[in-house]
Amino acid sequence: MNAKISFRNVSQTFPLKKSTFTALDEVSLDIGDEEFVTVVGPSGCGKSTLLNLAAGLATPTSGEVLVDGRTVTGPGPDRGVIFQQYALFPWLTVRGNVEFGLKLASVPAAERRLRAERAIGLVGLTDFADALPKTLSGGMKQRCAIARAYAVDPQVLLMDEPFGALDALTRVQLQDQLLETWSRDRRTVLFITHDVDEAVYLARRVVVMAARPGRIHSVVDVDLPYPRTEDIRLSPEFARIRNAVWTSVYHQTPAAPAA
Ligand SMILES: Nc1ncnc2c1ncn2[C@@H]1O[C@H](COP(=O)(O)OP(=O)(O)OP(=O)(O)O)[C@@H](O)[C@H]1O
Ligand SMILES: [Mg+2]
Repeated sequence: MNAKISFRNVSQTFPLKKSTFTALDEVSLDIGDEEFVTVVGPSGCGKSTLLNLAAGLATPTSGEVLVDGRTVTGPGPDRGVIFQQYALFPWLTVRGNVEFGLKLASVPAAERRLRAERAIGLVGLTDFADALPKTLSGGMKQRCAIARAYAVDPQVLLMDEPFGALDALTRVQLQDQLLETWSRDRRTVLFITHDVDEAVYLARRVVVMAARPGRIHSVVDVDLPYPRTEDIRLSPEFARIRNAVWTSVYHQTPAAPAA
């Protein structure tokens, strides 16, 4: 496999008053170019920590994170990040927020406008392009954050529970729209979620993590064709894979006693 993102024996510890806390313990994972990988696992098992390392927002205590074979040393325009807590600039409108990353990348104004408009349209916020974040619902703010990442058109999308705050209908719509965008543009996607159905519906492989210490419990192949459709979502094969992932997530035996 041609790895786009590689985690090699990655450990991340955080200092506590009298000891250290192991958030990630010797995690190794290769994510292929243009692959869609989802990560599920109990709260606190290190999912966001893993994503932050790929984003270059943190450096591992030991081991290595590589993108395109190069060690990650910081954030870059090749990787678009959508955070668990939507991070919008409150003083900028939806359009301003979406254009922000393009400005940083020195994209000329006219093209900025076009790309922002397209991304805003994709997430269904066209009528709110001139609204400030404080006037938007939680779901709309998150859609704005998604549009901001889409607009920059990065090779890698790092998404940390992007649809977690959304209602079920919007969530399903955005899942389909994300898959549609992915089928067309074939980015590499690392997508974290709490939702086992979502994990299976989107991914080619589901990484199940375990907590204390944070580690990879298992990797489940999702042998379902793309495009994923409602028929697939309702198929016995989907249910079988979903049940396997569910069992891995919720019937884990802890490797160590709780710290
Ligand atoms: N800066 C930090 N200092 C100390 N501990 C931290 C720090 N960041 C994360 N942790 C701990 O590391 C563990 C993993 O955190 P992380 O945010 O990666 O979990 P998560 O799997 O994303 O959880 P959730 O599903 O709730 O978002 C947690 O127990 C957390 O308390
Ligand atoms: Mg998290």
